[in-house]
Amino acid sequence: MEGIEKVCSFLDEAHTYYLATVEGDQPRVRPFGTALIYDGKLYIQTGKIKNVSKQLAENPKAEICAFMGGKWLRIAGKLINDDSRDVKVAMLEKMPALKGMYSADDDNMQVLYFEDATATFSSFTEAPEVITF
Ligand SMILES: Cc1cc2nc3c(=O)[nH]c(=O)nc-3n(C[C@H](O)[C@H](O)[C@H](O)COP(=O)(O)O)c2cc1C
Repeated sequence: MEGIEKVCSFLDEAHTYYLATVEGDQPRVRPFGTALIYDGKLYIQTGKIKNVSKQLAENPKAEICAFMGGKWLRIAGKLINDDSRDVKVAMLEKMPALKGMYSADDDNMQVLYFEDATATFSSFTEAPEVITF
């Protein structure tokens, strides 16, 4: 499995991860669950009306943390908006529960991909594993 796929699989299996953004000098964090590899990039999904989206538009720097089975994963990087319809459709197909709230053609659905990302798997027993994409 390629590094970025391992990262996405971990997010899928953990089900919930925590996404931190920046608002001025104040960190903001909330639970998220969406993750998709498309065109070799790791995407997440949100709504443009949410504060998280406004924070990322202002400052794309973000960090994700997920914990599962004694290991934790952090991904630090920038989250870049992508308005391509194809990715939105792929996200809705992978995560059908989103279809109750979003469609590929509404003005709200947003997908963003990681740029300049450093993903680090850590545990109390093993050396960290770093994957960049
Ligand atoms: C388990 C779980 C997973 C979630 N996944 C997402 C997600 O992938 N995308 C999203 O926009 N909101 C998701 N939410 C909802 C956000 O956490 C919620 O809308 C949050 O308030 C957004 O942050 P903000 O208020 O700073 O904009 C999820 C909530 C929970 C409890």
